Amino acid sequence: MCGIFAYTGKKGKDAGGILLKGLLSLEYRGYDSAGIYLPESGSVKTPGAVAELRKKIPKNFKGESGIAHLRWATHGEPTEKNAHPHADCDGEIWVVHNGIIENFKELKARLVKSGHTFKSDSDTEVITHLVEDHLKKSAKGAKSFEKAALAALNEIRGTYGIALQYKNEPDKIIAARMGSPIVLGLGGDEHFIASDPSPILPHTRKVIFLEDGEVAVISPDKHRIFKLDATNVKRKATKIDWSAEDARKDGYEHFMLKEIMEGPEVIENTLRGRLIPAKGLAKLGGLESVAKQLEKIERIIIVACGSAYYAGLVGEYMLEEHAGIPVEVELGSEFRYRKPVLNERTAVLAISQSGETLDTLEAVREGKRRGALTLGIVNSVGSTIARETDAGVYNHAGPEIGVASTKAFISQLTALALLTMFLGRQRGMTAKEGKIIANELRALPAKLQKLLKQKESIDILAKKYSGSRDFLFLGRRYNLPVAFEGALKLKEISYIHAEGCGAGEMKHGPIAMIDEKFPTMAIAPKDSMYQKMISNIHEIKARKGSVIAVATDGDKEIAKLVDDVIYVPETIDMLSPILNVVPLQLFAYYFAKEKGLNVDRPRNLAKSVTVE
Ligand code: F6R
Repeated sequence: MCGIFAYTGKKGKDAGGILLKGLLSLEYRGYDSAGIYLPESGSVKTPGAVAELRKKIPKNFKGESGIAHLRWATHGEPTEKNAHPHADCDGEIWVVHNGIIENFKELKARLVKSGHTFKSDSDTEVITHLVEDHLKKSAKGAKSFEKAALAALNEIRGTYGIALQYKNEPDKIIAARMGSPIVLGLGGDEHFIASDPSPILPHTRKVIFLEDGEVAVISPDKHRIFKLDATNVKRKATKIDWSAEDARKDGYEHFMLKEIMEGPEVIENTLRGRLIPAKGLAKLGGLESVAKQLEKIERIIIVACGSAYYAGLVGEYMLEEHAGIPVEVELGSEFRYRKPVLNERTAVLAISQSGETLDTLEAVREGKRRGALTLGIVNSVGSTIARETDAGVYNHAGPEIGVASTKAFISQLTALALLTMFLGRQRGMTAKEGKIIANELRALPAKLQKLLKQKESIDILAKKYSGSRDFLFLGRRYNLPVAFEGALKLKEISYIHAEGCGAGEMKHGPIAMIDEKFPTMAIAPKDSMYQKMISNIHEIKARKGSVIAVATDGDKEIAKLVDDVIYVPETIDMLSPILNVVPLQLFAYYFAKEKGLNVDRPRNLAKSVTVE
């Protein structure tokens, strides 16, 4: 996701160089455009990489302070116009922002009415115009910029990590945090603001992490923190002894664990602004242009690879049960070689984290060639699949660095649930049913937060089973694809043999493998398949196989039957994979870690597979 870096100091005129270097260390977050502003030299912005930005910067671009940004597009295309920093009407107030201003439409309408001119499509730009508005209203005084900024911050709703600068007070930078992290770096005669400590660490290890609802003002030799109601906050600095690489991992040992732990936030980000719970509706801006066509769609073919394919299998259950549309799920690598029969009433839906997987992309192209409507559920904004599909839904999961898909998978399932509501309400889904799904979706982040608290006990469990050479994963209905995904996670990062299997299929072959050395992970929530899963577990126990059950909170009965249980909060059937997959991700993580393997970069695998 977006990255912020801001600097003010008394060390010569190289703020530009310092900021560019800082942006490089934020690149890992993923972005599509970059920009920088120095009050003494102006702004430079570009779509694309920091290297492009560097090329555009003129020789005399000098100054003692400035703000810089890497943007991961949410509102508005990744263009130069929409890149940050954004300015007010007179080019005096500048802002860089991470997050989403939820009430930007109302604010923008009000500001436009009172004469403000906007230059971008971004939600962020309202911040500078609001500050401008308050600044013009307030009596000029030493603290009027601060007061205007505070008044503006009190008007915006949503999530933000912000750095603001005013041309007429160039050595001062104001930062604020609500939901998006902000850290201050305290040097002797220089101060910093960033989204995470990685760009600050080469300069100082003394930092302060802002909390939600806090504002900070930095100048070269001091800082001050206060709340949105202007009351002062006293906070001691923390000394960071991690490396810049550790800083990017937010203190976690691996990106994979960090990304699993981001799950609740990821669900919130995928849902943000897309649910109208009171009406039981999902609002998907990216599908508006094809909404009429979607009403006539009679069949959906989901194309994807790997984990995204398993997300698609869950989507098949969701869409058929709740939206009443026939769905097929195809491996991207097979689809285009199959001479599929498609027409304009078929939608080909690609699911891809990277948006660059060649097999999935070629499946989309095949769909297009055969006259289908093409759609995408894609995480990477501006990627090839996002560009080549007719319409789609962005995940907003943030960049995924660990090779094994974790938070992207969670987000793909969340997006599929939104799509199910969207298409379902176009068809037979009642408002009542829509409301139930919407309310359950909104409850998921808190439930996942609770589930993640068990990570230490899953670590112990993984250690207990880490000597196994084989593992079977069993599930049924919505949780059959979860069994496939659990097995994929384990094999790809711990290099042991793991198989996902429909519990009902086991007796047709796989049960022959079971003995005391072949453990099973059984996903057995209290849903309509519960009794059948219990019978299947009995069959394994009868053959001396050990069983770990992923069960619903409070299910004491299952604990009597199996060797170990991981409890998961209850939700409706169609959303249960979003919770049930997380213990499997954690299990695979701790299992591979116990074996001393490179969890984030497993052998032979690439994050984005752009070859056939
Ligand atoms: C597994 C994994 C892969 C990807 C697959 C598709 O953990 O990450 O199986 O899911 O390569 O990648 P995307 O979603 O980028 O198309």
